[in-house]
Amino acid sequence: MPDDHPPRGYIKDASYPTTYFRELSPVWLNYVAALGGAVPRKLDQNFSYLELGSGTAFSSVIHAACFPAGEFHACDFNPENIATGERYAHELSIRNVLFHPVSFLELLERDLRDFDFIVLHGVYSWVGAQARQTILQLIRKLLKPGGLVYVSYNCMPGWTLEVPLRRLLIEFATASDGDSPQRVASAVRWLQRLSSAGLRYFRTNPAAVTAVDAYARSPSDYLAHEFLNETWEPLYSIDVADQMMSAGLTYLGSATLVDNHDALVIDSSAGEAIAEMPTTRLQQLATDFAVDRQFRRDVFVRSESRIDNVDDITGHLGQLVVGCMGNPEAINTAVQVPRGNIGFQADFISELRTLMSHGSTTLYELVTSLGGESRHSGEIIRNLCYLIAAGELRPFAQPFRPTDSDNRPEFASETIKRMFVQVAGAGVAGQIASEVVGGGVALSPRDALAVIDYIAADDPAKMERGLADQILRLNRFGVLV
Ligand SMILES: C[S@@+](CC[C@H](N)C(=O)[O-])C[C@H]1O[C@@H](n2cnc3c(N)ncnc32)[C@H](O)[C@@H]1O
Repeated sequence: MPDDHPPRGYIKDASYPTTYFRELSPVWLNYVAALGGAVPRKLDQNFSYLELGSGTAFSSVIHAACFPAGEFHACDFNPENIATGERYAHELSIRNVLFHPVSFLELLERDLRDFDFIVLHGVYSWVGAQARQTILQLIRKLLKPGGLVYVSYNCMPGWTLEVPLRRLLIEFATASDGDSPQRVASAVRWLQRLSSAGLRYFRTNPAAVTAVDAYARSPSDYLAHEFLNETWEPLYSIDVADQMMSAGLTYLGSATLVDNHDALVIDSSAGEAIAEMPTTRLQQLATDFAVDRQFRRDVFVRSESRIDNVDDITGHLGQLVVGCMGNPEAINTAVQVPRGNIGFQADFISELRTLMSHGSTTLYELVTSLGGESRHSGEIIRNLCYLIAAGELRPFAQPFRPTDSDNRPEFASETIKRMFVQVAGAGVAGQIASEVVGGGVALSPRDALAVIDYIAADDPAKMERGLADQILRLNRFGVLV
């Protein structure tokens, strides 16, 4: 039996912790596509989306709620993971997710439609070479022309230091008792013992001490999936690009948005040295070393053709919608990026704050409104893309103007109401699906409960401090109306 098939290779005695990943949103991927010169997929009509190695498929379920026109499929061979996702979708009455509790190899044999998006987060460098081949076969078979692929993976050279630590973890875990999470927890304790004893490896590499401290703070079910798979292997991005090319794909850019702008991640002397490398392949490899990358979120397209019109606001980028997740009045004039701080002109940011306080809008509208005698549209687009890369702005799904109303707010739908109830009952912050954002909006159980109580209260005048801001915020994302 090929090693793609359970139970060899990948651990199955621990379900994967449930986490939401905004980068998996179709609207986020469309932004990377447009930035990379490809045509975004149409999201207002029936489109299809496949998540491979979905874990509990939490992100797919949230995105299915955000995009009722989309059909989402989630595949994972761990039945416990899939059962959790199915339960969650069922409780929320979200019907546009189809679950496949099967291996990639078995999925290949299923009769499936073709897809606009195929995504895999935290999978490609955790499974073996055979499973990677099956993933490529799935992409070759199921991705539409012009379709987008998201693949994240651990990469080199950023793991150079931790590869020996992982070896210790494996050896210690093998010598320990219990299931995978118990064994990895015991292995981390042994690692901490060695790290605190000041062995020369740790003295020479202080970052290894920091890494061990980080393992000690991580949940053991996460660590088990991260490290205990026989098949774990950090990859070089040029190898991944070659493999994707063999499936007919071209690299577009990164869903870690800041990585799409060299000026924000590498200094000028590194930039000059990289530019001297004779091919784009070597330049990409050198850039990974310049950044010392440990994790990549690559986006590819099935297409031969590229359009390179990033400065042309009439292009696809201009049609995309941008919004602000935080308070628009707090958009910063100086933002932190990997290379350091970058600043924007105060009058530009001041105008942007006013525009964003009216709600999300297209990049084209923003550029038109911000344009003036002294501002060139290419420069405005670049600044807006930098602000998106820095997280001050974000790709949204819909232009939306929240209404000013003194009426008591209501939940936008029964599904949204159920999400509030779920978050209120959970011990940790959860996500509310927003069709405006095209993704999850984080909410604490305390805030969820406060909103539920306020909406249900006999006397709505009694509003706790901070609740008004929260309601205003949720109103901007269209989850309260
Ligand atoms: C590290 S977890 C990532 C889960 C999820 N994508 C996330 O990031 O939250 C990898 C997932 O891939 C699944 N997986 C590994 N090999 C597989 C295979 N051959 N077929 C189907 N699922 C697989 C595992 O069960 C696990 O849930």
